[in-house]
Amino acid sequence: MRSAVARQAQGAVTRKNAVGHSLSLNCMELPAHPIAASHARRLAVHTLARWDMQWSTDMAELIMSELVANAVKATGELRDLARAGDASGLREFIRVGLYRFRGRIVIEVWDRGRTPPRTKSGALDDENGRGLQIVDDLADQWGYRWLATGGKVVWATITPHA
Ligand SMILES: Nc1ncnc2c1ncn2[C@@H]1O[C@H](COP(=O)(O)OP(=O)(O)O)[C@@H](O)[C@H]1O
Ligand SMILES: [Mg+2]
Repeated sequence: MRSAVARQAQGAVTRKNAVGHSLSLNCMELPAHPIAASHARRLAVHTLARWDMQWSTDMAELIMSELVANAVKATGELRDLARAGDASGLREFIRVGLYRFRGRIVIEVWDRGRTPPRTKSGALDDENGRGLQIVDDLADQWGYRWLATGGKVVWATITPHA
């Protein structure tokens, strides 16, 4: 996987957005399986080293882990729903990406799940309901958006002073 991540990073691109700011991005598709979290973390470590933004690595790894775990879980719930019907056409993957924009890191995780992320402020225990709280604590901002092409992206931004 190390080499696959390295190859992916070599494919990273730099684009100009609508207002002309430089936007670097690096993204990959992963199986919707718990193993995806470690691959996504490696992508983050490798990408941030490449961008010389190691200050953000620890935060990025934690955020990536939580968002990917949730995306995998959401895809699994979709699979369970589909099981009663014909699930043969269901492709189970998620997408993860890192963007660099004006000194800020944006982490994005896409899944097909049809329900939104929700912080569970009331009923935290050691095992459940802490993931988004961790994201909320570490990220400058976070949120989600539905895509017209299907699924949703949950995103979080990290800044040096966050
Ligand atoms: N990508 C996602 N798709 C659908 N629901 C999500 C997603 N991420 C989070 N959620 C919802 O938000 C809740 C809180 O997430 P989190 O704080 O990570 O706790 P946990 O994963 O332990 O349930 C989840 O239980 C789930 O209902
Ligand atoms: Mg979680």
